[in-house]
Amino acid sequence: MARTPSPKKRIEELRAQIRHHNEQYYGSDQPEISDAEFDILLRDLRDLEATHPELADSSSPTEAVGAAAVTTFDPVQHRVPMTSLDNAMDESELRAWGDRVSKGLGDQPVQYVCELKIDGLAISIRYENGVLVQAATRGDGKVGEDVTANVATISSLPKKISNAPEVVEVRGEIFMSIAAFQKLKAEREAENLVRIENGRAPLAVPVNPRNAGAGSLRQKDPSITAQRDMSLWSYQLGEVVGGPEFTSHHDTLEFLRTLGFPVNPEITIVDSIEAVMQFCHSWQERRHELPYEIDGAVVKVDSLAQREQLGFTSRAPRWAIAFKFPPEEKHTLLRDIQISVGRTGRVTPFAVLEPVFVGGSNVGMATLHNRDQVAAKDVRPGDTVVVRKAGDVIPEVVGPVLAKRPKNSTPWVFPTQCPCEVKSTLVKLDDVADTRCVEPMCPFQRDQRIIYFASRGGMDIEGLGERTVFALSDAGLVVDVGDLFSLTVEQLLTLEGFAELSAQNLVASIQASRSKPLPKLLTALGIKHLGPAASDSLSSHFGTLDAIASASAEELAAVDGVGGVIAASINAWFAVPANALIVSKLRDAGVEFGRVVVSTLPQTLVGKAVVVTGTLANFSREGAEEAIKARGGKSPGSVSAKTFAVVLGESPGASKVTKAEQLQIPVLNESQFEVLLETGELPN
Ligand code: IVH
Repeated sequence: MARTPSPKKRIEELRAQIRHHNEQYYGSDQPEISDAEFDILLRDLRDLEATHPELADSSSPTEAVGAAAVTTFDPVQHRVPMTSLDNAMDESELRAWGDRVSKGLGDQPVQYVCELKIDGLAISIRYENGVLVQAATRGDGKVGEDVTANVATISSLPKKISNAPEVVEVRGEIFMSIAAFQKLKAEREAENLVRIENGRAPLAVPVNPRNAGAGSLRQKDPSITAQRDMSLWSYQLGEVVGGPEFTSHHDTLEFLRTLGFPVNPEITIVDSIEAVMQFCHSWQERRHELPYEIDGAVVKVDSLAQREQLGFTSRAPRWAIAFKFPPEEKHTLLRDIQISVGRTGRVTPFAVLEPVFVGGSNVGMATLHNRDQVAAKDVRPGDTVVVRKAGDVIPEVVGPVLAKRPKNSTPWVFPTQCPCEVKSTLVKLDDVADTRCVEPMCPFQRDQRIIYFASRGGMDIEGLGERTVFALSDAGLVVDVGDLFSLTVEQLLTLEGFAELSAQNLVASIQASRSKPLPKLLTALGIKHLGPAASDSLSSHFGTLDAIASASAEELAAVDGVGGVIAASINAWFAVPANALIVSKLRDAGVEFGRVVVSTLPQTLVGKAVVVTGTLANFSREGAEEAIKARGGKSPGSVSAKTFAVVLGESPGASKVTKAEQLQIPVLNESQFEVLLETGELPN
């Protein structure tokens, strides 16, 4: 018989899982599960904590959910709190809510207002004597941020209203239409081509309309928001002084409409949960017909007297519920399972799918992670499979549709040989999930190593991307990174896609990279386990590549942030004859082996971690990070409780902003960042 864990154990498990997924989502921007699955974990934990108050813990993730306002915009105290809504994840939860409403109202008849749940940002816009005076985000529901100047740029929003009450707060959702998002994305991509051509860092490209909308609303310069074509649906009133008396929600919507505010036309009033269900299911099917994104439906009791009777829980009103659409799933043909080989030889299986439109985009490929995952799912080429995508989460193959499995189908067998021409044996050790190609001369690994060498974190060679590396490798012009430096314009001209100017530019940027500082060169070599932070420490300690190559494992391991695993890996790398050959080719080409930039700047940031997100006007991303390091600080890629400050540029990563808000980490704009660099202090 299966044993169920004790509540204490289960609570601990859930807390650990939620912390892990929070870190994946906010910290590394690599969510492993959908928002819907996350919500389920969080709710299970909340339910268990409610039934076991003796197991309460103030550090539980349930206590931390809900973003507090950040300090970049002035705080605004909401006079009427902006509460959130409880969620119904499926039909039975929606019915259960309907039952609670009926019970709470002693079985009176109920009218429900069904609305679309707009996937945007909640806003409260205050008018005094008909004039827009303030717009604030929801924040933690009590205190939001003042984004008046940005909201005032929304063209469909009246700036002045006639016949208005003395005070009226209009609440609703600000969003970016799909068309506006696509326009912004296309403009960004075009602008990036020019920036790259001019040697400037590309700007972040927004991933979906909600993130683009959030980024636009957070602009310090409202003229940028004005170019973004944001929209609003209003759906609620906040504080009202001197206004008419209302008896129903639909009256308030009508009032908003007559004042000139946009009210969504798809709102429907029904008198049974059955009809509510129909509304929800119908929009679940038709959501992509809308020119903006929705992630569910919101159902509200219409009568204001009944709302009063039902009241609020500590979190949300009892008279409304958000029905969240489940992650979208589609069936498609699994054409094949193939494997890709990474720079360190790690082999990743992936699904080649008959392209299918799911979750707002076309999906033709999806990772299957590793051998165990394929075995656990037992998906086979020729199967019809379920593909899922929720929000901006990467597409996932959920599993096979067994009823449609072709007869005589057999389980997929993980290849025993690398698909490259060397056909080396693939190895899986018992205690690790990964399978590896252990042949260092495997051309697939080789190409990935060259791509890594040229990438931003390494030698940052402009114009040497994946496609060019494959072309160079196919033409036999490069075998390892040492060969890059002897490439000529004439050789490049033999490749498709190269003209005189682009060939000259690439040769010039390869040659220019020879004077990159030692930590960049060391990182670029792609030594297993050796990342930029340890490369920095090793470079400062040893000063030259030759000194690192000849150091013993003990000497290497003694350096701050290095340790035994990295030290052994470095020793092993330099001991491989093919790598020694690379080092000698680099030396012959005149690559600098000892360019350690010693900072003469005041060490204002020693021991402080400052995270940079978004595009800054006066610094490239690398420039900002180097400015931090040159003052003794660290610039990690993710926000954690140890982060001293987060610097926000244009189009910041939404997850980093949210995490900073959650952890209440100071958020700085560019000029405040400059003060921080100079003084090491947080500006007032
Ligand atoms: S009513 C007390 N109506 O969903 C009622 N919210 O999950 C407050 N949302 O914070 C909200 N569309 O940002 C309401 N038609 C709609 C909505 C809507 C989107 C958002 C809103 C809210 C969140 C709750």
